[in-house]
Amino acid sequence: MDKSVKFWDRIAERYSKQPIAEEAAYQKKLQITREYFRPDMQLLEFGCGTGSTAIAHAPYVKHIQAIDISPKMIEIAEGKAQTNNVDNVTFNCSSIDEIILPDQSMDAVLGLSVLHLLDNRQEVISKVYNMLKPGGVFVSSTVCLGDSLMKYLKLIVPMGRFFGLMPLVAVFSTKELETSLTHAGFEIDYQWQPGKNKSLFIVAKRVA
Ligand SMILES: C[S@@+](CC[C@H](N)C(=O)[O-])C[C@H]1O[C@@H](n2cnc3c(N)ncnc32)[C@H](O)[C@@H]1O
Repeated sequence: MDKSVKFWDRIAERYSKQPIAEEAAYQKKLQITREYFRPDMQLLEFGCGTGSTAIAHAPYVKHIQAIDISPKMIEIAEGKAQTNNVDNVTFNCSSIDEIILPDQSMDAVLGLSVLHLLDNRQEVISKVYNMLKPGGVFVSSTVCLGDSLMKYLKLIVPMGRFFGLMPLVAVFSTKELETSLTHAGFEIDYQWQPGKNKSLFIVAKRVA
């Protein structure tokens, strides 16, 4: 965890200045997500990075608790919220493992470009399931490196990690991610992949 915090702290400033890689796909994901929102909703976003998505969604819900393990990411996110006069997003430096929320307290949880960075994906997905109210949704967007040619990363990633160049990157397929979600009790309500090897966008619902 310590290595990951250092990695994300180190690149936070650069990350915040990078243009969005796939603007049209990003906008579509925002749009689809908002179809699930109501103005009275309480959200959690984990791995919020520099806060852009939480800030973009803020006008559509009551409150967003946004967390990230990197203090630098959180500092930048807080600055952006202030600049944009957004006062219904609370940013905190925390990992998804540390945060304690009452069962069935959240209407939606967002985990965007973060599930592949966890070494305990199943545990986290089950934790998210428990914190959601019945009918609540878990919105994720995840690169599934196990799907295709990108399997060669299975070799590169451990090397990069060994040399301290990369954070932990978990390799799993679309099928394995779907299984993790259904195993926790979720039903997949919406699924979209903008193209081959692109991040898989899933809205998973806690039905009961
Ligand atoms: C690839 S960035 C994605 C940021 C943002 N969600 C986005 O889509 O631009 C991954 C972020 O997840 C954070 N992160 C990694 N592991 C985490 C964990 N266990 N709990 C909370 N945040 C985590 C990192 O610090 C980093 O800011």
